Amino acid sequence: MKKLYYAPLEGITGYVYRNTHKKYFGNVDKYYLPFIVTNQTGKLKSKELHDILPENNKGIHAVPQILSNNAGQFLKMAEFLEGYGYQEINLNLGCPARTVVTKKKGSGLLAYPEELDRFLETVYDGIKIKLSIKTRIGLESPEEFEEILGIYNQYPVEELTIHPRVQKDFYKNTPNLEVFRMALQESKNPVCYNGDIFTVDDYKKFRKEFPQVDAVMLGRGLLRNPGLGDEIMEGKQLQKDTLRAFHDELCAGYQEIMSGDRNVLFKMKEVWFYMGQSFVDADKYLKEIRKVNRLSEYLSIVERLFGKCELVDTKL
Ligand SMILES: Cc1cc2nc3c(=O)[nH]c(=O)nc-3n(C[C@H](O)[C@H](O)[C@H](O)COP(=O)(O)O)c2cc1C
Repeated sequence: MKKLYYAPLEGITGYVYRNTHKKYFGNVDKYYLPFIVTNQTGKLKSKELHDILPENNKGIHAVPQILSNNAGQFLKMAEFLEGYGYQEINLNLGCPARTVVTKKKGSGLLAYPEELDRFLETVYDGIKIKLSIKTRIGLESPEEFEEILGIYNQYPVEELTIHPRVQKDFYKNTPNLEVFRMALQESKNPVCYNGDIFTVDDYKKFRKEFPQVDAVMLGRGLLRNPGLGDEIMEGKQLQKDTLRAFHDELCAGYQEIMSGDRNVLFKMKEVWFYMGQSFVDADKYLKEIRKVNRLSEYLSIVERLFGKCELVDTKL
């Protein structure tokens, strides 16, 4: 069975987004939650806590993700999450942000194979639930991945999601499919692919090259076209009225939990940064959205955008 996962997207795919997405679109087998950073107190920030609460994830196969290089803190957090019923958590070894990397976290830890190994040894020794990993292929050079993969191979990684870019790529260049191919051959653990699948065509091309991969994780592709999973799995093209209903409920959801137009608009602008690419000739409206400061004005721009612009025809 081929599976699709929704990638963790910090700042965007929080529980309001997830629930709204789940209501209007299907074919996402798991939603990976944006990362939680561990600290000495072992406590979650209120935003993080709301995101993992079972009542905010009803009917959603949610997998929380932890960003940490401290095995003790990691295990404490894993136990806390287990207490809320989670059976799988994910370790972030991919985040390329400089503030994270300089603290030897995310993809930053990949540059220290011995520390990575020690961290994983303690963590896999102590953890009682499934632990999957999401990783980049190195910090500076794809050649780093052979050694890193050798380390992963020593542990029972529930699933190894590989985004085949190095940290210094950020999102530039293209995913390194040769390194991914090597990893697929050499990995002792199940492998999931992640990176630059934006359309059904991208997915088909990937599938043709890697028919043996069971799971693909989609990030920006689903942000751009929230119905991408349905399109890939069922050939069901995105409909404007569905996207409109999704948008309206998302915006209402943010209004419910946030105070002030500014915060809601901040969220919606980020969504449009990606979703705007699903429309033809929408630049004028998207520019207005980027500049707007009042929610009432925003809603009227959205009304015009949906009225005047057609969706990109992905069947062309
Ligand atoms: C805005 C944004 C936020 C992200 N937040 C996270 C995160 O919290 N955890 C994580 O592992 N990756 C995060 N990523 C990386 C994505 O999960 C994914 O690996 C990356 O976008 C590549 O996949 P894609 O080409 O399908 O988008 C983020 C990416 C973006 C663009």
